[in-house]
Amino acid sequence: MKYFIGNWKMFGVPKSINILNKINSFYLKDKNCKKYRVIVTPPYTLIESYSKHFKNKKIIIGSQNCYQKDHFSSNTSAVSPFMIKSVGAQYTLVGHSDNRIEGDTNHMLKNKVHFALKNNLKVVFCIGENKKEKQNKKTLNVLTRQISQVLDKNLKKNNIIVAYEPIWSIGTGKIPSSMELEKTIIHIKKVLKTTFKSKSPAVLYGGSVDGSNVKIFKKIKEIDGFLIGGASKSSKKFIDIIKNYYR
Ligand code: PGA
Repeated sequence: MKYFIGNWKMFGVPKSINILNKINSFYLKDKNCKKYRVIVTPPYTLIESYSKHFKNKKIIIGSQNCYQKDHFSSNTSAVSPFMIKSVGAQYTLVGHSDNRIEGDTNHMLKNKVHFALKNNLKVVFCIGENKKEKQNKKTLNVLTRQISQVLDKNLKKNNIIVAYEPIWSIGTGKIPSSMELEKTIIHIKKVLKTTFKSKSPAVLYGGSVDGSNVKIFKKIKEIDGFLIGGASKSSKKFIDIIKNYYR
């Protein structure tokens, strides 16, 4: 199964659902649709209405983040996994670099993953190195640490997906070379296999994915799908990614 996950970030109002309606119509007609799953993470404000709208349809709604506590608490502006699940989300991103930059630590992320899974949300755990770490050839060390400080073998592996997103690639149009990316994904899968003492969960790539570079990425068989930011805000761009992946 491949995954095409759209991360809307701070984008979207109720009528933006038209974008997803178009993607849903495409999916229903696509002869390849059994091979992949489409998940979109709109902002918190839209999760409930979009989840209801797509309840018996093909697009799955997720959250972009969740708080590191379980249920209710006195944390202003926080939204817990329990609350997110209660309005129909099925997935949540955890550890996106936007949130790490704003202060999410590995310790916080460990709690987020734990409570998300406890509340039956599937987790898309994001990891990635920054430009300086890449220049200093620290990529693999950084990724190993990000995984080992957050994931462990007692977690429900089947409800976890890992998304590799090099920070220097997000929103910049820059992508890793195929050789580099293949090596990195293989490394991540090896670390995950050791962590879970069984087969690695799915590993996605994210960072400036578009309808043309997806033709390069599809040659790397280890990549199980994509986390798509900018291009997920346009139905045409998002559909082009899927079309060109299977062309
Ligand atoms: P991008 O964002 O596709 O716009 O680079 C990816 C992400 O941040 O998840």
